[in-house]
Amino acid sequence: MPSDSRPQQSPSTPEPATGSGDSAASPAGGQGDAPAHPRITSCRTRTGVLKPTRQDVWDRQWGILGRDASDAPLDASEWFGREAPLVVEIGCGTGTATADMALAEPGINLVAIDVYKPGLAKLLQLIEDNGISNIRVLRGDAVSILEDMLGPGSVDGFRVFFPDPWPKKRHHKRRLLTTAMFHLMATRLRPGGGVHVATDHSEYAEFIEESGNAEPLLGPVTWPWPMSSVRLETKFEGRAARIGNSISDFAWGKLPR
Ligand SMILES: C[S@@+](CC[C@H](N)C(=O)[O-])C[C@H]1O[C@@H](n2cnc3c(N)ncnc32)[C@H](O)[C@@H]1O
Repeated sequence: MPSDSRPQQSPSTPEPATGSGDSAASPAGGQGDAPAHPRITSCRTRTGVLKPTRQDVWDRQWGILGRDASDAPLDASEWFGREAPLVVEIGCGTGTATADMALAEPGINLVAIDVYKPGLAKLLQLIEDNGISNIRVLRGDAVSILEDMLGPGSVDGFRVFFPDPWPKKRHHKRRLLTTAMFHLMATRLRPGGGVHVATDHSEYAEFIEESGNAEPLLGPVTWPWPMSSVRLETKFEGRAARIGNSISDFAWGKLPR
């Protein structure tokens, strides 16, 4: 991602793109009368088996840095051992950009969410190798985690980079970024907090922009933005660039009460 990749409220129309729709899991959810509580109902089959070195790092670090989704509200300050702005990345994948962004923003407590165990194991490896102290990892459905573990007004920023676009019309109900999800994120943000989304799929970009703009608790970004607006290149973004897809970035701010 270019270093000036400041999120835009209304990007120019993106180029046609094939998208990044082959990842581990996607929740059901949708617009209008669709359920407000999307769940992971359809997963592309991927093995959750770790290779031995990754199993070793998992065994060393998961009990310290990782938790499974649960009904227990998250006390982030207690888990990180400090008070700091809380940024939540949904769908971190293998976490290469997560690690880079945590290193670039040492003053932020960064929670990375995904369902894909081998990806999370890779992130644990990056954390260990680089001595990163400001990442914690939650494994499970992001929707459930936001509903059950993150309190209203407790989050400074959300990042959702290259969510599965589910390009076929019959699969649109599986998309993560519905109006219901934008509302859920907005309720978890403190006033002045922000949502930063990126996608390389042109039709999903329009869907995302409409869904975010429809959320009454969200509006244009106000400054200071609670997290870095520079998006370091993610694994999926790298692939999008190689096949010539253009990237759309969006940002919204939580309106004052
Ligand atoms: C296309 S990948 C993008 C990964 C990463 N952000 C990147 O840009 O390289 C989407 C990721 O979202 C995760 N994901 C999809 N639905 C999810 C959900 N409901 N809860 C948590 N993670 C989810 C997938 O497992 C996958 O790792």
